[in-house]
Amino acid sequence: MEPFSSRRRALLARLDGAALIPAALVALRNNDVEHEYRQDSDLFYLTGMVEPEAVLLLVPHHPVHRAVMFVRPREPGREAWDGPRVGVEDAVQRFGVDAAYPVAELADRLPGYLARHDRLHYRLGRDRATDERVLGAIEKARARGRSPLAWPAQIVDPAVLVHEARLVKSPGEIANMRRAAEITRDAHLGAMRLAADGRHEFELDAVIREVFRRNGCERPAYGPIVGSGPNATILHYRKNARRMADGDLVLVDAGCEHEYYASDVTRTFPVSGTFSPAQRRIYEIVLEAELAAIEAVRPGATVDGVHEVAVRTIVLGLVRIGVLRGDPSRLVAECAHKPYFMHRTSHWLGMDVHDVGAYHVGGAPRPLAPGMVITVEPGLYFRPDDASVPPEYRGLGVRIEDDVVVIEGGRRELTADLPKTVDAVERACRA
Ligand code: GLY
Ligand code: MN
Ligand code: MN
Repeated sequence: MEPFSSRRRALLARLDGAALIPAALVALRNNDVEHEYRQDSDLFYLTGMVEPEAVLLLVPHHPVHRAVMFVRPREPGREAWDGPRVGVEDAVQRFGVDAAYPVAELADRLPGYLARHDRLHYRLGRDRATDERVLGAIEKARARGRSPLAWPAQIVDPAVLVHEARLVKSPGEIANMRRAAEITRDAHLGAMRLAADGRHEFELDAVIREVFRRNGCERPAYGPIVGSGPNATILHYRKNARRMADGDLVLVDAGCEHEYYASDVTRTFPVSGTFSPAQRRIYEIVLEAELAAIEAVRPGATVDGVHEVAVRTIVLGLVRIGVLRGDPSRLVAECAHKPYFMHRTSHWLGMDVHDVGAYHVGGAPRPLAPGMVITVEPGLYFRPDDASVPPEYRGLGVRIEDDVVVIEGGRRELTADLPKTVDAVERACRA
């Protein structure tokens, strides 16, 4: 039940209305085959429930119940095919909620539970069928209501409360993320060792997924990106099909999901085990930017501020090698880096790889605080046909990405022991 019931308690203490958090939908892949199921992060965060169709309802103003779950009932015939369900009878004990009902009763029971709550935290627009049930329940509660405050007059996005809670990670959550980072480190080391002239990108993809699975991870946190040669310049390259050759760089962006927590790591390395002088120049600019940006992570800093440090370092590097010309401060102001470094440096990391939580609060960039986790991931990408750069750089893509926890007085890198200096990367490729 822990840590889920204390998370619910903390949320209930701050909740200014009811909250309804449904399970992720099952998605059909083709004909009768489903996509792999993964629970919605909010519902898992608050219950630990991994089955589809479940709903958590928090009702702080109900006379007896605070937390209620709606679940799939036991159904031995179905369970013989799909495996056991928690069921209604065991749900109260298993999840520590005050009551549990079959999910088919949601529409009938919801109006009663929503009474006395003038606000409902619910994410409208994600699933029209659930929207219908919720809106129908509000209509019924309204019809029964005798005072203006007897039913939800406002529907607000649960992001306001649930996502703010998820943004700051507990020591237990950080421990999961540290384990995810360790497994991811081993996967990247395996890919570095395997890369060689004539190997295919999918062979590296396979080794990465194997390390994830062998260590008990249920899935990658996102589809691994293995982009060699010019594919390294495609930010969301996913085919992973090209045959690699000596002289290529290969960009691997892969992270496992461990106990519902993500890691998100990128390394770029030479297939031959040795960077060419041009590749090395680009790599060292990105590395310098990454290290400077990581140094900037501390309580009170902002994601925007960390990005500015990375941008300034990248621009200085591009001026040094003659890709950009002019006054660096003016080039930064003009965003001259954008054709080659077109994404942000950081995003929140947690249960979702691009985790939840507002980046700006009250119109200003949000200050980082202990327990927040971000990625730091500058890159440089020169398209093969980009005539604005010297020919030796065309077709090169480099990104370096690590996961960083904000702690009192500074930062801790979760992925610090994965090689990233030129020498350490070359050694790992030759191992
Ligand atoms: N792997 C996705 C990202 O780096 O944001
Ligand atoms: Mn990534
Ligand atoms: Mn990332």
